[in-house]
Amino acid sequence: MTIEEIDKALFEAAEAARARAYAPYSKFQVGAAILADDSKIYAGCNVENAAYPVGNCAEPSAIAAMLAGGGTRIRRVYVTGPGTLPVTPCGGCRQRIREFADPGVEIVSHGVDGTPLVQTLDQLLPHSFGPEHL
Ligand code: THU
Repeated sequence: MTIEEIDKALFEAAEAARARAYAPYSKFQVGAAILADDSKIYAGCNVENAAYPVGNCAEPSAIAAMLAGGGTRIRRVYVTGPGTLPVTPCGGCRQRIREFADPGVEIVSHGVDGTPLVQTLDQLLPHSFGPEHL
């Protein structure tokens, strides 16, 4: 598969998950898709809650789907959301991705009415703390 074909598949998986996002409070539906080390794509959406702080982002939903489905490492991430600005992972999600991805792994952030932004994990979370520190 070419990188264009991979990104098309990731985009479609992220968008399918985003359509099912539970975001009644922010109205900001987000989808995330992961290409994992088992060559499968795992997707997730944000899940908000009436007790606002306990809502989940889309990225940990996709990570949980990866682990439950048998993947162990993240090879590429694609995040989609509304608007024109790239929907970049929040700080906490960068750290959650860090747990399962090497520094050079690329994260595509896409506000679906705009242009996708491709950055490495190391660009998004430089000098990061990880399992090897412990
Ligand atoms: N959100 C995500 O799911 N992922 C991101 O990378 C950015 C923000 C969600 C959290 C909340 O449900 C909504 O977007 C608005 O912040």
